[in-house]
Amino acid sequence: MLKTKAILAAATMLAGVSTAYSADLEVTHWWTSGGEAAAVKVFADAVNASGHNWVDGAIAGGGNARPIIISRIAGGDPMGATQLNTGRDAEDLIKAGLMTDLTEIAEKEGWADFIRPSKLLDSCRYEGRIYCVPVNIHSFQWMWLNRGVYEQNGLAVPTNWTEFVESSPKLAEAGVTPLAVGGEPWQLSGMSGVFQVALGGVDLYRQIQVDKSVEAAGGPEMKKVFEAIAQARTLVDNGYVGRAWNDATNMVITGKAGAQIMGDWAQGEFSVAGQVAGQDYDCLPGLGANPVLDTGGDAFFFPKTGDDETTAAQLEMASLLVSKQVQVDFNLKKGSLPIRGDINLDDANACMKKGIAILSDPENILPGSEQSFSSDTQGQMEDLWVEFFNTPEMTVAEAQGRFVEIIEFAD
Ligand code: GAL
Repeated sequence: MLKTKAILAAATMLAGVSTAYSADLEVTHWWTSGGEAAAVKVFADAVNASGHNWVDGAIAGGGNARPIIISRIAGGDPMGATQLNTGRDAEDLIKAGLMTDLTEIAEKEGWADFIRPSKLLDSCRYEGRIYCVPVNIHSFQWMWLNRGVYEQNGLAVPTNWTEFVESSPKLAEAGVTPLAVGGEPWQLSGMSGVFQVALGGVDLYRQIQVDKSVEAAGGPEMKKVFEAIAQARTLVDNGYVGRAWNDATNMVITGKAGAQIMGDWAQGEFSVAGQVAGQDYDCLPGLGANPVLDTGGDAFFFPKTGDDETTAAQLEMASLLVSKQVQVDFNLKKGSLPIRGDINLDDANACMKKGIAILSDPENILPGSEQSFSSDTQGQMEDLWVEFFNTPEMTVAEAQGRFVEIIEFAD
């Protein structure tokens, strides 16, 4: 083995690559759709070009991947690096001392000076140390519409939720599903978060997501959210249960559906399909009512492996993921926004430019819910959104009552 490494070291030096060794890094993530795969390839190519070896460990579906990733690390079978959401997913693993400390590279490169909003890096901190590297800002606060579907049915392309609902009967008559949705819990939960901002208002979102206010949870503004969900469940097709988010996006891309409420990662699918923002599809941040962005996102974590060369490779990978060109190339394909404000985004399309303009005003930035609630509380809320969406006989009052109870004991 040592001889192999010596040969590799000589080869890499001759190749002019900066790395004196070549480490295999098994990287787990759940980016398996067309757009996501194109985006994560940017990271893989960068790691491979640095002289290390990206061993892809894709696991489809965040709901499947997250527990597998966390249990592998907790169970002593760590991967070299893993994607998770920026937020509290890895909280217990960090507390248990299982994650590589990135503080040295973060301070050397000044991550705190260019990563914005600062809460993304703050989400990676524990007891003053840094344990993850944010790689994008993503937001669920978007609606994606197929322009041709509306134009071919003599309808103006909706510019907000109200216009969308008003246009739905004519689409349905034409055999087009007004709203494409997948029935996975996180999709329905994400849609409820969009309604909280777009229809309940930014104050409501903060009262719920930050203050965990029981009064707001039971109030009239939150009632509008439940009413919108009750409306939305009448605008979907019968095949939504269990449908993957990108299959719902494909319904919009192919004209089987008019629109989808989904995070900005949907844009990667339009891109792979060769569709152009503002021509083939439109995007409504905050459903056209409250154009704000929740700043959730993705981050990479690096479990301790006990091998010094792997640790060194992990730090090099972390540095690559925040580097300027990798940030531009990855986010343009992913449909998300870069975590640094000091890069050239002339190639951004019309929708990404909307997101960047919104991001320029700190008032338009909301905390992503994965940063607000524990995984357990998030799970309880997801269960409620799924039950309410799937149970037409469940009333708004009953659902909102259950929501108040969850917020009352939220952690
Ligand atoms: C989220 C992830 C996004 C996107 C989405 C759908 O959790 O942060 O990057 O991949 O899942 O898979």
